[in-house]
Amino acid sequence: MNESNTPTKNSGNSLRHQPFGKISKWHETPDGLSGTSGFAYFKLRVFETGIVRIQASRFENFESNPYSVIVEPNPTAFEIQDHGDILVLHTSVLRVQINLSAFSLAFFDHQGKLLNQDDSFGIAWIGTEVTAYKKLQHKEKFIGLGEKTGNLNRFGNAYTHWNTDYFAYGVGDDPLYLSIPFYLGIHDQGHYGIYLNNTHKSLFNFGASNNRFASFSAEDGDMDYYFFHYPSLSEIITSYTWLTGRMQMPPMWALGFQQCRYSYYPESEVHAVAQAFRDKNMPADVIYLDIHHMEAYKVFTFDGEKFPNPKAMIARLKEKGFKVVVIMDPGIKTDVSYPPYQEGFEQNLFVNYPDGQIYEAQVWPGWCAFPDFTKATTRGWWEEKMAFYAEAGVDGYWTDMNEPASWGQCTPNLLEFDFDGEKASHRKARNVYGMQMARSTQAGALLQAPEKRPFVLTRSGFAGIQRYAAAWTGDNVASEEHMLAGIRLVTSLGMSGVAFAGYDVGGFAGEANKGLFARWMSTAAFSPLYRAHSMINTKDAEPWAFGEEVEEISRNYLNFRYSLLPTIYSAFYQSTQNGLPLAASLAIHYPQDEFVYQTAFQNEYLFCNAFLVAPVESFKEITKVYLPTGDWYYLYTDQKYGGGQVIYQECPLNYLPVFVPAGRIFAQQSLTQHTGLAHDGLLSLHVYQGKKGSTYTHYEDGGEGFDYLKGSFFAREITYNPELGTLTLKQSTGELPSHYPSIRIYFHGFDGLNLKLNGLTQELSTHSFAFLKKLTAFDPLPDQVHPYFQIDSLPYLQFDHTPEELVLTGLN
Ligand code: NOJ
Repeated sequence: MNESNTPTKNSGNSLRHQPFGKISKWHETPDGLSGTSGFAYFKLRVFETGIVRIQASRFENFESNPYSVIVEPNPTAFEIQDHGDILVLHTSVLRVQINLSAFSLAFFDHQGKLLNQDDSFGIAWIGTEVTAYKKLQHKEKFIGLGEKTGNLNRFGNAYTHWNTDYFAYGVGDDPLYLSIPFYLGIHDQGHYGIYLNNTHKSLFNFGASNNRFASFSAEDGDMDYYFFHYPSLSEIITSYTWLTGRMQMPPMWALGFQQCRYSYYPESEVHAVAQAFRDKNMPADVIYLDIHHMEAYKVFTFDGEKFPNPKAMIARLKEKGFKVVVIMDPGIKTDVSYPPYQEGFEQNLFVNYPDGQIYEAQVWPGWCAFPDFTKATTRGWWEEKMAFYAEAGVDGYWTDMNEPASWGQCTPNLLEFDFDGEKASHRKARNVYGMQMARSTQAGALLQAPEKRPFVLTRSGFAGIQRYAAAWTGDNVASEEHMLAGIRLVTSLGMSGVAFAGYDVGGFAGEANKGLFARWMSTAAFSPLYRAHSMINTKDAEPWAFGEEVEEISRNYLNFRYSLLPTIYSAFYQSTQNGLPLAASLAIHYPQDEFVYQTAFQNEYLFCNAFLVAPVESFKEITKVYLPTGDWYYLYTDQKYGGGQVIYQECPLNYLPVFVPAGRIFAQQSLTQHTGLAHDGLLSLHVYQGKKGSTYTHYEDGGEGFDYLKGSFFAREITYNPELGTLTLKQSTGELPSHYPSIRIYFHGFDGLNLKLNGLTQELSTHSFAFLKKLTAFDPLPDQVHPYFQIDSLPYLQFDHTPEELVLTGLN
């Protein structure tokens, strides 16, 4: 190292720590500044008032990830002040201080509070590995990072991003299938977000095995990260999803219950399972065909014996109101008589070795070649091939094994990927492979059925995957700790842009006991994706397979889920607009509240902004629940609790602890057995008295297709204002009439209401109301009888749901 602390390319041992070094030259650019130390180069680019991109490279040509970020910088006003050794870049919400003597950065909010600061190591290399070192702030917490196991607060731990097929992973194991190098940091002075835009294997260390720094590094490529700061964590997530994209509106049916099994076959079994849902009055919308639907596990085939007439089978399932989702694995059997292999071989569509030989590894079909989904021609081919499923009537696609998985679990690094013309080795391409498969599958679904909204469920992915697919958390295990870990995986995915996510209800590996299955069905009713799945060679695991009580509890929560579809659908629509999670960890709304990070409370989350769900093991009869500031209503009884306290809540198996925040609104409809059936036309709004009001944006459209993008929807804001004592249903927007000609408003927690609707005095009705049905006393023994809750004399008002503004007064 020379005196100016600036290593040169030939100086010293490149396998030792090599800092960026002193900046010798810099200049302002249209969106920021760039410069060099002679050893390395940097760029700072203002993407938005609260987003700055930092790039550092040892080469003048910066490397990039073409797959995740989908926007260019928004022209944003900024100013650079030159203080000699220190430069300060200002936007209206963010101040970045750049120390030129060692290229180290510090980020402040507009009030001058320090948000994040480089350790003196700054950005540095060891060989090709590049790391950004950040000083640990006082009591700093780290949340997010996508599909990562472990605690909500990731402080003290390190995590690797390297998409991995991990059967029956432990609840602390890492890495899993899907990588999102985006996290949120929270401490006394404020909060921020960081997204590392590098697809190589990366490591995030949040103060593991050291007490000096948090760091993030990539094995190769550039240091390329986006720093975010806005007044709330929600705004940061919204800007992260502005950058990497948002979920598209799924078809309504994908919000219903989905039943999977590895595998249902033959055809008669698929029909039997579907029919059982209908016979037992358990609502469901989707049935899956796992790998046994294929002939010798070859994608784009049906097994002729097990499924002699897939088209007729699917048509019959549709008559029962079921959509069919098929699994698609990337591995193409290397069989010269198998057309997809022949085509891939002839058209050079597969991943190759550097000498041009096709790479082969073993998966279900035996030796396989792997389509190079980072190549446009391969994606185009795959999209065409999907005609096979579309012609059979398939509705959705499940992209599995797309890490990519293979027996041996060690894909060689020398493999070559097209990387959309840039060419890259497996080291750079692995983490985006699954995402590109999902992308191609979504495009294929659209190509084959342009009038339908695609539904793709993926196991693997990277930052931006939310644009193409919903995600599930892979091969979990039938255990209480996995049930709770799944919730943290889903809420972590949610704060990392993937709002539409779920876990295998009941556990994939192993077998759930009765209690566990019942609790899992109840909890997952409040999961964005509601899907049960189980492993080959295990006992049946449908919601009726665990005895009468479990069946009734499952039915109760399935019914509740279906009754909430107006709320859930509206929340999905909102999420397509703002990228916010549907299942939001309490940390998103109460980041400075220490309680929400405690082990006992870290699984609590807000579903659709209306339900605080407090997940709990099935064997517990009583549990501690933390209620943050504000007032809360126990869903089933309307019992009111003050917030900012821990309560002891009884949690019999038939009642999952759920609380509604005071002041909130949600909507229900009449029960149907699947989303394709018409409800009775009555929209029930539940309004909860509180000191603080809220707005529920009600949204409806055709539930399918793209007309909603051309104005074919019905939306209205419904606002409860406690100060004015009003509930205002704003004039609707959109060209559709509402599907609900009548509206009924339930008033929870209000006393002595004297209501007027648009000035006219209203007579209130009352009745006793229960969100869940009473369980049958199957067993006459007293301790086998389940409690039952209802809300007595709940006041309500019913009127015509007309599109013009409707104002109710007197909600005091
Ligand atoms: C692995 C997936 O994670 C699992 O859900 C699926 O059932 C099996 N592959 C078989 O396709």
